Amino acid sequence: AVMKEVFDTRTIEEELQKRLDVEEVHVVPGDSDEFSWVKKELGRSAVSVMKRKLLPDNNVIAVTGGTSIAAVAEMLVPDADLKEALFVPARGGLGEQVENQANTICSTMARKAMGSYRLLHVPDQLSQEAFDSLISEPNVQSVLKLIHAATMVVHGIGDARTMAERRDTAPDVLKKLEDGNAVAEAFGYYFDADGGIVHKVTTIGLQLEELTTIPAIIAVAGGSSKADAIEACMKRAPGQVLVTDEGAARRILNRG
Ligand code: G3H
Repeated sequence: AVMKEVFDTRTIEEELQKRLDVEEVHVVPGDSDEFSWVKKELGRSAVSVMKRKLLPDNNVIAVTGGTSIAAVAEMLVPDADLKEALFVPARGGLGEQVENQANTICSTMARKAMGSYRLLHVPDQLSQEAFDSLISEPNVQSVLKLIHAATMVVHGIGDARTMAERRDTAPDVLKKLEDGNAVAEAFGYYFDADGGIVHKVTTIGLQLEELTTIPAIIAVAGGSSKADAIEACMKRAPGQVLVTDEGAARRILNRG
């Protein structure tokens, strides 16, 4: 029975990799919508991908927020290579609670890996005027420079509606997402099923176009409820490593 399960996982990975046309796919058993331990396994799997994708030196690892990337942070352990890495948040505030914020996760990762980190202090609800003056601050500018030079990005993918609700999104934006048939969210960008941008949250940091120049992009997202979101996001930015679970993988593949 064990052999069969191993075989099945490999088959699922290969099929999913072809279907989504991504660089690499890792599938952990289970469905993280059902069991929280599955999310921990996602984290563990993502850590091994991160280690394998490190450059010989000068690694700058940009991370997003969310519970999946928080699980990655929890699984990090001190490591000779990661110790040299610098962790930065991929983008500024997106309306998340503290535990789900990129800054929080970034500092946890650095602590666990014994690496270093820089944070982006940009509050969520700012007037345009305050925003403009804040982003011209030298400290913010120097962190932005690091983000734009990221060698690796580790990010979550969310279901559009779930994310919009979790982030207390304003009614007019909710309407925009609904009218635009948004199904996915990643980096504060909301996408439709074809990977088209429906909405972008106003903040600073990594821009979607920049992904094409970053050597390693690792998406960590599981749960059957994220099937549409994962598929849409992979259309928008192919060439990623996807770390997912059986729940999401089967839902995507069973659609034919
Ligand atoms: O951008 C996507 C979200 O951060 C995903 O959040 O990992 O808690 O589902 P999650």
